[in-house]
Amino acid sequence: MDSVIVDTDTASDDAQALVLACLTDRLSVEAVTVVAGNVRFDREVENAKYALSLAGAADTPVYEGARGPLLKEFEHAQEVHGEGGLGGDLFPKTGIDSAAGFAPDEIAARCRAAPGKVTLLCLGPLTNVALALARDPTLPELVEEVWVMGGAVNCQGNVTPAAEFNFWVDPDAAKRVVDAFDVTLVDWGLSVRAAVFTDADFERVGTMDTDLAEFFLDSMSAARTHETGDIDSVVQPDGLAAALLAYPPLRERVATYPVTVDERAGLTRGYTSVDVAGVTGEDAHTRVVEAADGDAFIDVLLAMLRDSDPDGALP
Ligand code: BDR
Ligand code: CA
Repeated sequence: MDSVIVDTDTASDDAQALVLACLTDRLSVEAVTVVAGNVRFDREVENAKYALSLAGAADTPVYEGARGPLLKEFEHAQEVHGEGGLGGDLFPKTGIDSAAGFAPDEIAARCRAAPGKVTLLCLGPLTNVALALARDPTLPELVEEVWVMGGAVNCQGNVTPAAEFNFWVDPDAAKRVVDAFDVTLVDWGLSVRAAVFTDADFERVGTMDTDLAEFFLDSMSAARTHETGDIDSVVQPDGLAAALLAYPPLRERVATYPVTVDERAGLTRGYTSVDVAGVTGEDAHTRVVEAADGDAFIDVLLAMLRDSDPDGALP
């Protein structure tokens, strides 16, 4: 069972990913680190604690990290996730204290304490991980794996034509992390191909009558109308990243390419350069999940919401 630190800018899809990571027996979430991104930082922290509580994992330490990108200004994505990040009507106050320590220090310390044993599951901008790397440049040799939801691999981004949100928010961090670590990338394009929750899926959740189903419907209420206009569907990029880490059979095609990120301000800020044709001559060390079993992923989510047992969906 992988020992995992989940780094998150906890809003709607991050929260579902956290619940999944905690409820599956395939992963062991040892800490959660919060980074600036989707909504106001203090909200993200509360959202993370609330999601952990719902998953019966309230004792998982939550470390607060970077409250803004390394170098650039950024904007939240409240219009996607709703004010507060959980749909717009839910503002939990858990009363749970954050763990003592700065998230990047904690990431570095935990990886050093268990070389080769800790996997990072990164669901937000990569600021915390870049700061951890600055503290300990040997981190790439110490981590087991680094899974990143981010980037737009040879496709249109979701925040600008060039860029996906997590890489756009902190392109400097994204570049440093993607360059230094052997990252596995779960990008926006894959999410749109394999992680779309449809109106039929929403109907099934509507009949479930569980706390997790209610939380899902509440937290998705803003994203549901935002992302696809009139169509009642919503993309679950962070949940997909968690599921692909937990369940290797869901990975249908994974290829390794030279990948880097454009950190410059302007039109191409956060653009993911993925050299599928090998024209750059650069070192290929980034694994890109190119195809995934989207039906199985949705089944995992539904089993999680219905029975608190995501593993029950798979053989
Ligand atoms: C990513 O951006 C955030 O809004 C989501 O939580 C996800 O991590 C998708 O671009
Ligand atoms: Ca996220």
